[in-house]
Amino acid sequence: MSLAMAPVAHDPLTREERRGRMVHIRPTASAVQTFLQRVEAITIDDLKRIPYKRYICAREMLAAFGDDFGDRLRAVLDDYETGCLALHFGELSNQQDCVLIATAVSHLLSKPIPEPSGGYFGITTVVHDDAPSLKILDPYRYFSLHTDGVFADNPVDWLMMMKLEEQNAIGGESRLLHMADFDAFERLCRLDGSNTIFSFGLDEKDRRYEIFSKVSSMERGRSRILDTVGGQRRIKFVDQFILPETIAEATFIEKVHAALEDCEAIVVEPLPVGSMLILNNSVWVHGRAPFKRNPGLQRSLLRQYGYFPHRHPYMR
Ligand SMILES: [Fe+2]
Repeated sequence: MSLAMAPVAHDPLTREERRGRMVHIRPTASAVQTFLQRVEAITIDDLKRIPYKRYICAREMLAAFGDDFGDRLRAVLDDYETGCLALHFGELSNQQDCVLIATAVSHLLSKPIPEPSGGYFGITTVVHDDAPSLKILDPYRYFSLHTDGVFADNPVDWLMMMKLEEQNAIGGESRLLHMADFDAFERLCRLDGSNTIFSFGLDEKDRRYEIFSKVSSMERGRSRILDTVGGQRRIKFVDQFILPETIAEATFIEKVHAALEDCEAIVVEPLPVGSMLILNNSVWVHGRAPFKRNPGLQRSLLRQYGYFPHRHPYMR
């Protein structure tokens, strides 16, 4: 079956199109303006301090884009064949508009997870830097493929990345891979004949421990790296946070890492300012291509992570 350029649906408020495994949705400029007018009295400070306002944003997005908009987004994320949304909102004039839109979308999807900054969203700005403190801030190297979510109380079902701004940014595209297209999946599963359950977490002495402990119990997550559930492939892989206990386990992690990076089915996806990607975190891995060296480089992404409460009753 060809996955290329199959139109999915059309309606007056949003245009929807499937490309490969990605579903692109473009609300019309007038629908976006309607939404922004309906929430113009809500500030970023309101969103940070007054939780109910976040759901008011979601309600106003339904009013502007159609009552079924949230259901459509969740249906794509739940669909194993796709599990990836690219939402395009066009040119947005300021960061506040981006935060309002991102907040509405996340609260239509489900419940966002607090992230290390303490808020329900974070902004990562990458600039020219040869010695950044974190891997995610290193502009000139590949950010390797991984899933998000580490600890037991950090069950990331979906993640969102929205481009807020960029200057002098050539490269830096998202690198994405769906597990159904991961040619080494079955071979790697056979390599790990004992179906190892790995620990995901941080040693207490790690300098990042204190940062994460503000939003997590730090109880280690325990999971297979590769798994098949109901005929659907799953992955949990973030090389910085897997805690192997033997050489054999470390060798397996090394082989998974190499096979992911070598996979020819990796999709390289540029993201315009004002657009966002939302991924099903169980079936997609994501990373970033290097930027072209430029002393004026600056690129900001808004990120959010979320979970579906009915899948994690212990989180209530
Ligand atoms: Fe990530």
